Amino acid sequence: MSYRIELLADHDRRNFSCGSIALDRYFREQATQDVRRRLATCFVAVSDEDEVAGFYTLAATSLAFDRLAPEDAKKLPRYPVVPAILLGRLATALAHQGKRLGASLVADAISRSIRSDIVGYAMLVDAKDAKAAAFYQKLGFRSLPDSPLRLVRRL
Ligand SMILES: CC(C)(COP(=O)(O)OP(=O)(O)OC[C@H]1O[C@@H](n2cnc3c(N)ncnc32)[C@H](O)[C@@H]1OP(=O)(O)O)[C@@H](O)C(=O)NCCC(=O)NCCS
Repeated sequence: MSYRIELLADHDRRNFSCGSIALDRYFREQATQDVRRRLATCFVAVSDEDEVAGFYTLAATSLAFDRLAPEDAKKLPRYPVVPAILLGRLATALAHQGKRLGASLVADAISRSIRSDIVGYAMLVDAKDAKAAAFYQKLGFRSLPDSPLRLVRRL
């Protein structure tokens, strides 16, 4: 199975189901409004059969300097905050899980963020639970000190 990744437009999201009711509802009911209000961009993965198989959102954010890992902080000027990119939401449809689509979506988010003219020092994610945090850790993210569900990966 191959997928193309494109900006959310008029894709049919009615049957999207990832196993998290909150994420399904966000994708079906809220994502378009967030895009329209410039609160996030949303990318979707579309299967060969034109089925929406996954999505993620990106937005600008910032990270307080004192939340950085000491080894990163010592390489930077002591600005109060550093710019970052928030990978706000990410999910793959149940029928497409376990096929490395989630990892591909994270890789796509990282590569778009690195190519962007607006820089971010790091990518941040808020994992919804410990299992999601374990998924991100496999992909090179590490938990912020004292916040196990907030993870960061340098860009
Ligand atoms: C978490 C989620 C995005 C993973 O997507 P996926 O397409 O199934 O993941 P992939 O097939 O790309 O897996 C990539 C790697 O992460 C691992 N992985 C996947 N889910 C994992 C989990 N819950 N815990 C630990 N590792 C996990 C896979 O085993 C794979 O490891 P490998 O490289 O050793 O083979 C998907 O299960 C999902 O949408 N879940 C519901 C919503 C959710 O939890 N979103 C997370 C954001 S809060």
